[in-house]
Amino acid sequence: MIRNPDTLLFVRKTVAQVVSLVKLPVQCLQLFTGSKSFRDNPILGNGWLNLLGLHVVRVVVAAGVTRFRFLCLSGFATREQRATYLRDGYLKIENFLPPEEFDRLKNEVENVRGDVRQCVQGDTLTQRILLDDNSLATLPSCRKLLSEKTFSRLMRFAASRNTSPVYYLQCIRSNAIAGKPDPQRNLHSDTFHSTMKAWLFVDDVSEENGPFTYVPGSHRLTIARLKWEYQQSLLGSRLKDSYGARGSLRIEEADLAKLGLPRPVAFKVPRNTLIIGDTHGFHRRGEATQVSSRMELWAFSRSNPFNPWPGLNLDWYRRISHFAIKKYLSSQDKKAERKGMRASWHRVPEDTMRRSGHAQQPIVCEATAANDASHSEVA
Ligand SMILES: [Fe+2]
Repeated sequence: MIRNPDTLLFVRKTVAQVVSLVKLPVQCLQLFTGSKSFRDNPILGNGWLNLLGLHVVRVVVAAGVTRFRFLCLSGFATREQRATYLRDGYLKIENFLPPEEFDRLKNEVENVRGDVRQCVQGDTLTQRILLDDNSLATLPSCRKLLSEKTFSRLMRFAASRNTSPVYYLQCIRSNAIAGKPDPQRNLHSDTFHSTMKAWLFVDDVSEENGPFTYVPGSHRLTIARLKWEYQQSLLGSRLKDSYGARGSLRIEEADLAKLGLPRPVAFKVPRNTLIIGDTHGFHRRGEATQVSSRMELWAFSRSNPFNPWPGLNLDWYRRISHFAIKKYLSSQDKKAERKGMRASWHRVPEDTMRRSGHAQQPIVCEATAANDASHSEVA
């Protein structure tokens, strides 16, 4: 046992230096992946390297590689869909499913039970059920949609990746608890490269339940955007917003005009509308004026932005992804349990997302540091 404080300090510093040295090769390799955190990776956050343009080079190379993958997958969308998505950064398709099919899906979703995970961000609760083979076995309408060729191909095009996105049933409960404002209501870009999120809304979306809000064209790399990215990277890990320091850059609405961008558009849309967005573009969750909920089938896809190979749509890959997600969540549960906390995405009762009983009521739970997923990235 070391009792001398000076010796203890020396040992601690030496251990920290050894750990940093061991991590260095991994952090170098992360330069060629989707890693984005200025704060967690000292190379990505290095002031000198970013002064020399490291971040901007990554943004430009990633955009070039992604454009190549879009080209490879161009047969998966119609000419009009391709042009609109690449120009505006989003696609909006109303009346996506035939009315009878949508009614069946809505009924199924509103009565769903399953392995529900919940994330608390400020005053908002996000609840999700992973649509893997297990949950889809009891959700025939969802299973039919996900296996539908035109839908699947469109999603893969928008993701610039020829593998199935990860699908969830998702419920956003706004103003559900006492807490700080939901951080997802700040305009932001999810990461430094194109990434796809999609929503098939089961509910009508209005200002009451917080419409997804997007700045059209903000996914495109212009000189003004690159200058802004460069300036942000110089601040890097010192950015005031902790999400920004971790690579999900925030922007004030007043600054959009300086980048030559229009005002954000709030998608107040009827149920059965499909929105697909490139969330490299600036977006946010809209303000919700009431205690409310928004149910949707939600999709997410992100790939290594430096890999030009679009991939193969193999079923085993989808299954492995689901297995990895569940393993990760379970490891987070155990980690949190050891600290006497709840994981960022913790389990809640199986019927939490059902439309009966408490679903329409305000949910009261304690918003503490332990249950506030302050750094989870949620759409
Ligand atoms: Fe986001």
